Amino acid sequence: MSSRKLKNILVTGGAGFIGSNFINYLFGMSATGEKAFMDSGFTGNIVNVDCLTYAGNLENLAQVEEKFGGKRYFFEKVDICDRAEIERIFKQYDIDTVIHFAAESHVDRSILGPEAFVRTNVMGTFTLLDVARTYWNVSLDNPRDDVLFHHISTDEVYGSLGKTGYFTETTPYDPRSPYSSSKASSDHLVMAYYHTYALPITLSNCTNNYGPYQFPEKLLPLMISNIRDGKNLPVYGEGLNIRDWIYVEDHNRAVWQIVNDGKTGEKYNIGGENEWQNIKLLHKVIELTSAEVGKSAAEVEKTIVHVKDRPGHDARYAIDCTKIKKELGWERKMTFEQGLSMTVKWYLTHPDWVNHILSGEYKNWINRNYSDR
Ligand code: NAD
Ligand code: DAU
Repeated sequence: MSSRKLKNILVTGGAGFIGSNFINYLFGMSATGEKAFMDSGFTGNIVNVDCLTYAGNLENLAQVEEKFGGKRYFFEKVDICDRAEIERIFKQYDIDTVIHFAAESHVDRSILGPEAFVRTNVMGTFTLLDVARTYWNVSLDNPRDDVLFHHISTDEVYGSLGKTGYFTETTPYDPRSPYSSSKASSDHLVMAYYHTYALPITLSNCTNNYGPYQFPEKLLPLMISNIRDGKNLPVYGEGLNIRDWIYVEDHNRAVWQIVNDGKTGEKYNIGGENEWQNIKLLHKVIELTSAEVGKSAAEVEKTIVHVKDRPGHDARYAIDCTKIKKELGWERKMTFEQGLSMTVKWYLTHPDWVNHILSGEYKNWINRNYSDR
């Protein structure tokens, strides 16, 4: 049972990869069948605010919409930078909890066009914080413990690690890309609203997520769909950069635990304790995907192309998640073997979802911006 009494939760970015997995998980519609709501005794409502950028896709939530739409689940196509609309939503649904996923999330796009990242990640987060502060009427003179703003962030705010060491909650911020610096700015605003206005907040910084519904511009779904389609597999530089991978539902369970039981004003690191060099991970994905689609792994290996490296490419991310384990008893449930195999199968058995994305605006964007894929 939860220690916070949540009633009406505003989830931002709920049509994106992690946000839609979060809503599916809450309502028991995810691949693993976990039912966070039922298990935690939550009986309130979810309001999903998403302006449906290229990354937002309501197909991800079709089952939730069908079963709970208009009853416990409500969708609002609204931009988080639109203050008047955000104020209306707080009032109309009497929001007491915000779980803020909405963001521009792709590092490569932030290098090609940083403005959208500053707008959504900085101004959008500011708008939500400020509407929450005013609607909830909180201040140092009027503190409250019956409302909460949870901000979802990334390990990229900590910068780049060398061969050893881990990011902890006290690692100084050192963002390198327009994406990570916009997320760092949003984290700072969140902490500022806590210290200055007593806005009850929690914050989480997570490593690379993988799982169903991830937009195929990100490494894993991109490689799986390119293997399926016989396309080249673009590896940035030598492929020696290291990322720490976590199954999306393990991340979302951590978020749900923080929202229910996390300490107000605290930040929590969430990680997979599962580091992979990009090139080694790609070999693994080739092995799994080739077997599923009846291709020879040796032939698919030949389609790897080493392309121009990402500017400012962070060498290594790795998270120390001792705090959330110790304080909230959070544990990962998915092994990487199982999660990766499920994920490969998911993309291959959902061709309509993948093809729909690959055929539209995304295809034009790729053609406009890249000549090497
Ligand atoms: P995503 O790009 O798949 O989804 C983002 C969602 O936000 C989309 O549905 C989009 O339509 C919506 N959105 C964007 N701008 C908006 C705006 N101005 N108003 C309303 N909605 C808007 O992103 P994701 O990978 O699901 O990431 C979700 C959050 O988790 C982000 O805050 C990201 O920084 C963070 N995060 C992601 C990862 C990862 O591996 N993907 C890891 C750690 C943290
Ligand atoms: O660490 C958390 C972050 O993980 C999140 O905050 C971001 O929202 C999310 O996009 C992700 O960022 P990355 O840049 O790590 O993810 P991406 O999938 O873009 O790239 C993973 C690694 O693979 C990275 O080292 C770059 C490399 N890469 C990526 C692509 C798309 C390639 O070599 N080739 C590619 O085509």
